[in-house]
Amino acid sequence: MNNYKIAAIPGDGIGVEVIAAGVEVLQALAAKCGTFGLEFAHFDWGSERYLREGQYIPEGGLASLKAFDAIFFGAVGSQEVPDHVSLWGLRLPICQGFDQYANVRPARVLPGVTSPLAKGKAIDWVIVRENSEGEYAGSGGRVHQGLPIEVATEVSTFTRVGVERIHRFAFELARTRPAKHLTLVTKSNAQRHGMVLWDEVFAEVAKDYPDVRTTRELVDAVTTTMVLKPEQLDVVVATNLHADILSDLAAALSGSLGIAPTANLNPSREFPSMFEPIHGSAFDITGKGVANPIATFWTAVMMLEHLGEAAAARELMAAIEAVTESGLHTPDLGGKATTREVTDAVLALIRR
Ligand code: NAI
Ligand code: MG
Repeated sequence: MNNYKIAAIPGDGIGVEVIAAGVEVLQALAAKCGTFGLEFAHFDWGSERYLREGQYIPEGGLASLKAFDAIFFGAVGSQEVPDHVSLWGLRLPICQGFDQYANVRPARVLPGVTSPLAKGKAIDWVIVRENSEGEYAGSGGRVHQGLPIEVATEVSTFTRVGVERIHRFAFELARTRPAKHLTLVTKSNAQRHGMVLWDEVFAEVAKDYPDVRTTRELVDAVTTTMVLKPEQLDVVVATNLHADILSDLAAALSGSLGIAPTANLNPSREFPSMFEPIHGSAFDITGKGVANPIATFWTAVMMLEHLGEAAAARELMAAIEAVTESGLHTPDLGGKATTREVTDAVLALIRR
């Protein structure tokens, strides 16, 4: 029997609430299935620790994560720490240090959930975000700090290796879906270096996937396709920044940020991959017990798929969809249910 070691990093705000719910559901699922085990180790890496000790990740912390099969992450961000400090202090060192270059973000309108789009408009997308370089490479600097002549540069870095591997990943994924359709999103009319490299490498890689239909859209234009003709998209591949923005739009169009999951994958499996809801620490609802745990449960489904536990993943997804369909919704979806009530409903279905 496979016994998986999972590092749980709840982080800040509602990350703590939803990861607790996710761990509970995963443990119930493992107990019910009886065919695999999950062993969780909890890490208190978050903004409280940073404010107390000056570091999000303690010395040697990243190396200690290597021993795990997967990382189950909540959110990081506090009103007492600048966002660029928290993001670069915890989430990005894990993504970049473990070469989790493929960020996979499915978007679908779950049963019982109302999309803000006109009725009948179908959303069934997977956004593949380049997660290791590009606009978030961290390359740049500030000169003449604080003086009127201050200059800041934020340099996007696109490597042929980085571009080719994300395209290949997206083609492989598109191939597994019924529509077998991949849309390349760039901005190669205005950004004529890195984005043109993206286009060129895409055309080269496409030759190896004649069974996948391809289309190209500029990033501004694709936002209108997402809203007006969502059925025209299937798998979308885009850069770190572009896909970051598009996936928040995708989450909102699917009903709420509170249901959207994501996987930060190291496809070679040299390092553990990290699974997290796409939302942040949500200061406005922290501690109120109303955070929607569905994003985290769906994230758990992605983690189980990655671990190779397809049957358990299907069972959890079915339980999630039965609960959303029943109308038991948290306030972000227009309901009155609490995190506890939604979690209990999913647990009841799993234990049935
Ligand atoms: P946010 O995702 O925390 O919240 C945006 C809005 O969505 C809020 O109104 C919030 O209440 C709502 N929301 C989010 N998740 C929800 C859930 N599960 N259930 C119900 N409602 C939900 O984004 P925001 O406000 O821009 O950022 C807050 C903090 O989180 C910042 O410090 C930011 O840097 C951080 N952040 C961290 C991320 C991460 O760790 N991956 C991702 C996004 C933001
Ligand atoms: Mg984002």
